[in-house]
This record gives sequence, structure tokens and C-alpha cells, in this order.
Amino acid sequence: MANLQQARANVGVVGLAVMGSNLARNLASREGNTVAIYNRSPERTRKLVQEHPEAGFIAAETIDDFVASLTRPRTAIIMVQAGAATDAVIEQLAERFEPGDIIVDGGNALFTDTIRREKALRERGINFVGVGISGGEEGALRGPSLMPGGSEEAYQTLGPILASIAAVAEGEPCVTHVGTDGAGHFVKMIHNGIEYADMQLIAEAYDLLRKVRGLEPAAIADVFAEWNTGDLESYLIEITAEVLRHTDAKTGKPFIDIVLDQAGSKGTGVWTVQTALSLGVPVGGIAEAVFARAVSNRAEQRAVARQIVKSRPSPVEVGDGFEDDVRAALYASKVVAYAQGFDVIAAGAKEYGWNINLGNIAKIWRGGCIIRARFLNRIADAYNTNPNLATLLEDPYFAKAVTDGEAAWRRIINVAVNSGVPVPGFSAALAYYDSLASERLPAALVQGQRDFFGAHTYKRVDAEGTFHTLWSGDRSEIQA
Ligand code: 6PG
Repeated sequence: MANLQQARANVGVVGLAVMGSNLARNLASREGNTVAIYNRSPERTRKLVQEHPEAGFIAAETIDDFVASLTRPRTAIIMVQAGAATDAVIEQLAERFEPGDIIVDGGNALFTDTIRREKALRERGINFVGVGISGGEEGALRGPSLMPGGSEEAYQTLGPILASIAAVAEGEPCVTHVGTDGAGHFVKMIHNGIEYADMQLIAEAYDLLRKVRGLEPAAIADVFAEWNTGDLESYLIEITAEVLRHTDAKTGKPFIDIVLDQAGSKGTGVWTVQTALSLGVPVGGIAEAVFARAVSNRAEQRAVARQIVKSRPSPVEVGDGFEDDVRAALYASKVVAYAQGFDVIAAGAKEYGWNINLGNIAKIWRGGCIIRARFLNRIADAYNTNPNLATLLEDPYFAKAVTDGEAAWRRIINVAVNSGVPVPGFSAALAYYDSLASERLPAALVQGQRDFFGAHTYKRVDAEGTFHTLWSGDRSEIQA
């Protein structure tokens, strides 16, 4: 056990499951970092030291020794389960830390918890920083995308440490100071919401190529691999081709065919939709992705439905252009999903008083994270050219992406509907596009209905003010 009397570590990691261990190894591999490590059960700590002597870890078997090994301002990154476990470790550190020290939560905490924790610790003189870490276990080890919130003071110390381990895209580390208190965890939550939408859209594209076009998984893998050389280039498209190419060793069948079609989720997609609803921002693509996972888990209802529905439509005959139509529809729907995600970030920044640079968020998502994609460069350009875009779709490149794809988008949804293939993500994206582009929406009728049954009033297109019609009287109109 290293001598802990002399504080030598500029950063420490608490929680050595795979993510924490990989993050600690990444930190230790970078010039200028000396890394302290601590885990509630010391076996994990000893195992990590034994397996990676090259890391030069300062291993502590008590929280006191861990704190003693950190140089001032002490900086400790917590990598334990979100919720009570995180609260417990925060308290253990806070009791021992001094004003100016920095406690970092690297888990997928709910941003409102981070806001609460940051305020409580600030009152004790301690910096609390919620950092969104994206890229999974591999990303933690080789270079994640990092989304820190917290104070400017904390970022002075923490920023260079995070920059030393972040992924690099176009020569720049994929980290930026997102904003104060919970801004980092908020943006990570939106990253995950976009991730859900992106994954759902890819899954719908696969379903169409499988059920309508009749391609086998390996052939679909080739289609995705080809798409990955163009505008759709992204980590999720890349791994989709890998998953579809994989053969199950046990049965020799395509791996995809032995996987139970019920999707799990840890909750960040739900948080994104709940937050967007509270902010009044439409995120139909993300919501449909969350609901699609929920539908997949309604096994009993699905079994009942299969009993009730006696016949299913046959797949519509499609020609060679079908794959390219699916590609165009996928790209247009993906653009809409990202546009909606960035809308929520802008609305959250306004609501919570964060000065979030949307162009920088797109830039740090270009590498390391799960939604990394070529077109994030375009999103960064769009917001750097005009930080006040009403919507990402206003940017000429993205306006063209959706209008060029519009005809194919409509054809694909038409084919899907008539083939009985559910495409909630594609459909929600197109409905959003059509809603934005419609001269008049049926919301006018909703206003009439609301005024009829609840006297909730309405506005006129041809006069200032608010009005109510006396529906149960002479139906004259009064100024409300
Ligand atoms: C990331 C991922 C990660 C998340 C997984 C699982 O950015 O590295 O988003 O944070 O835990 O995506 O999330 P679900 O179980 O909700 O799909």
C-alpha cells in the first residue's frame, strides 16, 4: 500500500466498477495525473492495482486515507449508482473535504438532484460538479465525451483534468463547461434522449428492410455499412451493421433473431420526455422511442392482440429504390430528432438560467459519445453561424436535408402503413415537420372546443385581445 501520509494525487476516483475503473485507468495514463482510488469493498481496489501496476495508483482502503492522498483543491470523481449510493458517498467526502475542494458526480444523475446537491454543498464551501460522461465502458477507458456543469471556480481545476482524458474530434477535446450547477447532467440527459430516438429510427429502418424488402440480417448489415460512408456516418449506424452481421454461436442463426424483442431502459429517455413536457417543447421522436420500448414490454397485451387481429397486411411490393428511400427518411427523421433535442437544451437553459453554447454542445458530441456522428459538425456550424436559430431546421443545410428527403419520407411511411410495419419514430418526425410547415393547424378547433365546455377563451386571427362565445346563451361573442 502506497504511503498515504504525503498527499500526491491531483484527482481521485471513488467506485471501481467497470466505468470507474476504466475512468481511473484513463486518468492515470495521461501525463500530469496522479490518481487515487477507493472502493467500498477493498477487493476491487486491490484487484485494479494488481491488474494495472503501470497506472501507479495511490490505493486507499479507507475513505480517510483516500482523502488524505489528495492534493488541494481535493478533486474526487464519484462513479457509483445514481441515487442513494451517490448521496452516501457525497456525504462521506463532504464531511472530510474543506472549502474549495471539488466533489464530482460522474453518474447519470437526474439534473434536478444535481442542482439540489450543488446548492447544499456550496453552502458548505464545497464545489459540486455533475459531469455527464458518454461513451460507455470503452469511452471511459479511451476517451469519452464529457459534459461538466458546476461553478467556474471548480472548472478551473477540473477542466484540464477532464480535457486530459476526453475524446478528441477535429483536434479538439470533447469537453466544455456546459453551464452552472446541473447543466452538465441536463445536457447528458438530452444526449440520451436523442440516443433513444436515433436508435429507434435505425430499428425502424431495419424493420422495413427486413419485413418489406425481405433482406436477411447480413444483407441489411451491408446496407448500413454503406450508409455509414455518407451523411448517416455515426457510431450507432456502425455498431448496427456489426450487430446485424453477428451470428449466434449457440444456434448458428443471425444473432438478431435470437434476441427477445423487449427493450430495457435505465430511465434517461423518460426523464428527457418528462422534462420536455414540463418545458412545453415537443419531442415526438424521443417520446415515441420511449413508448416503443414500453410497447415492446407489454407482452401480455401483444399476445392478446395477436389473438384478436386475425389477418395482417402483406408487405407492399417495393423496387430497387426502396433502400435509398429508407436512407433518406432515416436521415430526415434523425435531423428532426436532433432539432427537437437542441430545442429542449435551449428551453432548459432559459428556464434554469444557464448560458449554454449549442454549437459547443454539438462539437463535444462529435467524438467519444454514443450519438457521435459526422453531421454533428454541421450542427456545430449551424449554431456557430446563427446561435439564435428558431429551430435547427432553419439552417440551410438542414432545411435542404429534410425537404430533399420529404418525398421519400412520405413514400416510406405510406409503404410502412400499408404493410402493417409500425414506424412511430418516422411518423412522429414527419408529423412534426408537417405541423411546423402547416399554414393552419386544427388547434383552432381545440380552442373552440375548450371555450365551449370550459370558457377557456380564444384569440382571433383578425383582432387583438381574448374572446369567449356565450355558447349556452345567444352565442354572441364577448371580449374576455
Ligand atoms: C452513454 C450511454 C449511457 C446509458 C446507456 C444505457 O452515453 O454512454 O447513454 O449513459 O447508460 O445508454 O441507457 P438505457 O439503458 O436507458 O438505454
